[in-house]
Amino acid sequence: MQNFTYYNPVKLIFGKDQVEQLKNEVPKYGKKVLVVYGGGSIKRNGLYDRVMGLLGEIGAEVHELPGVEPNPRLTTVKKGIEICKNEGIEFLLAVGGGSVIDCTKAIAAGSKYDGDVWDFMTRKAAAKEALPFGTILTLAATGSEMNAGSVITNWETNEKYGWGSPVTFPKFSILDPVNTYSVPRDQTIYGMVDMMSHVFEHYFHHEPNTLTQDRWCESILRTVIETAPKLLDDLENYEHRATILLNGTLALNGMLNMGYSGDWATHNIEHAVSAVYDIPHGGGLAIIFPNWMKHTLDENVDRFKQMAVRVFDVSTDGKSDREVALEGIEKLREFWNSIGAPSRLADYDINDEKLELMAEKTVAFGEFGRFKKLTKEDSYEILKASL
Ligand code: NZQ
Ligand code: ZN
Repeated sequence: MQNFTYYNPVKLIFGKDQVEQLKNEVPKYGKKVLVVYGGGSIKRNGLYDRVMGLLGEIGAEVHELPGVEPNPRLTTVKKGIEICKNEGIEFLLAVGGGSVIDCTKAIAAGSKYDGDVWDFMTRKAAAKEALPFGTILTLAATGSEMNAGSVITNWETNEKYGWGSPVTFPKFSILDPVNTYSVPRDQTIYGMVDMMSHVFEHYFHHEPNTLTQDRWCESILRTVIETAPKLLDDLENYEHRATILLNGTLALNGMLNMGYSGDWATHNIEHAVSAVYDIPHGGGLAIIFPNWMKHTLDENVDRFKQMAVRVFDVSTDGKSDREVALEGIEKLREFWNSIGAPSRLADYDINDEKLELMAEKTVAFGEFGRFKKLTKEDSYEILKASL
């Protein structure tokens, strides 16, 4: 285990009716509030009215930025920055899924930066300051509610990059499982794939002595695997929604990788795919991750074997380590298939036409991935296996 500093200042407020806490939290940061949200789900499920009512009770001056896209776009971030600058916004409130929260992070930092906010995503500049913001999460998936990361798409150039800064942690995040009841079946599946993928990005490393961290990872994976079919049978079950919501947050709040660094190659490849085809992030991961696993298996067969045995209960009797490891990857594929996740790029009508372009985009910042360094050629092979 390497030296590490763990820093996570997000106040996590979890449970039924906790949205009421807005009345205590928002006044700490100011009166002029920009509420950021997506394409209308919060209007349909009543959350919008409730939030506006609470902000009204504390006398907030409310401005709105609706219409944040899934895979949030730079143009929308810029629209938000303009509102913040013109109206003297003091606090941002993201109400939505990872896309709304990521967009809000970029607006918060971009509002305190004189240059082009895209500089953060292209690593030309680092965010040094940001407006304070809070979140009301409505979809269990990204972990954005308790981390400082954000992923923004420049649709004009087909680029999608993750970025982050110590100044882009939410001040607070309110997680009420009831607010996730209306998440449709497909997005619920993508969200569960995404949180499992975050665990996999952590799990595959070469650092010795991460016994506790390994068990944390395995615990999240086993819990999601156990809960997913139950939740999909009963989308408005409070306990199952709560379990999945909590696991989504734990999977990417910085805790799992205490003392080592995760891989993140598969996310990089998926971001290249969704930059070109605008597919759901979790759907892309479900297709690519097992193929990344097969591609990198021989880097450390023991870790794949450990996953197979501890997460998927693969028996080792009469099998080589490699056979056990491969069976674990197959079990993952079968599990994702069983809950209805996509398994091929063809499921999104993607053929080999733009493989080269997508592979090129994965190396925008050079070779990538820590478990195994990948080149453009590796990306091409993994994408080809995913067709
Ligand atoms: O836009 P609305 O109308 O709100 O609808 C959304 C959207 O269509 C809908 N939805 C959300 N909550 C709902 C709901 N529908 C009904 N009821 C609710 N309660 O779901 C759709 C997808 O929402 P989105 O926010 O795009 O999903 P998700 O949370 O999966 O976020 C995906 C984005 O996050 C990035 C991804 O790349 C992608 O751009 N990521 C961010 C990370 C981070 N910041 O740490 C890490 C992740 O690995 C990921 O890359
Ligand atoms: Zn993800």
